[in-house]
Amino acid sequence: MAVCLDRKTAPVPTAVMRITLTNFRNYEKLHLKVTEQPIVLTGTNGIGKTNLIEAVSFLTPGRGLRRARLSEIARHGTSSWSIAATVMTPAGPVEVGTGLECATYCPHW
Ligand SMILES: Nc1ncnc2c1ncn2[C@@H]1O[C@H](COP(=O)(O)OP(=O)(O)OP(=O)(O)O)[C@@H](O)[C@H]1O
Ligand SMILES: [Mg+2]
Repeated sequence: MAVCLDRKTAPVPTAVMRITLTNFRNYEKLHLKVTEQPIVLTGTNGIGKTNLIEAVSFLTPGRGLRRARLSEIARHGTSSWSIAATVMTPAGPVEVGTGLECATYCPHW
């Protein structure tokens, strides 16, 4: 389904249905499929709960909930990262994503 993503007219997402993280913070790879129901994240300190919420926050414009530098986001030992998600909107599901590819233009963080 093709949906216009112009900021003024884009349908407002109401839920995240799927999220895939690659080399994001402590996640080498995470595939998470959920429903539109509310979710409770539980886990020991430092397991990655806030990192997951931070990833969701990167699906909207801005620096994310931690206002992190780009160099802090890639999993330690890596330089490129990505977030891909399916969000539900009143116009139906929409695929969105963001990330940083450092192979050629940011060798020295
Ligand atoms: N760029 C990174 N690469 C690898 N690991 C990272 C990176 N940034 C943060 N981390 C790791 O993420 C972990 C913290 O994750 P997070 O803050 O999401 O935990 P949490 O589950 O919310 O913990 P708490 O219950 O204390 O709030 C730490 O172990 C930290 O070392
Ligand atoms: Mg936390």
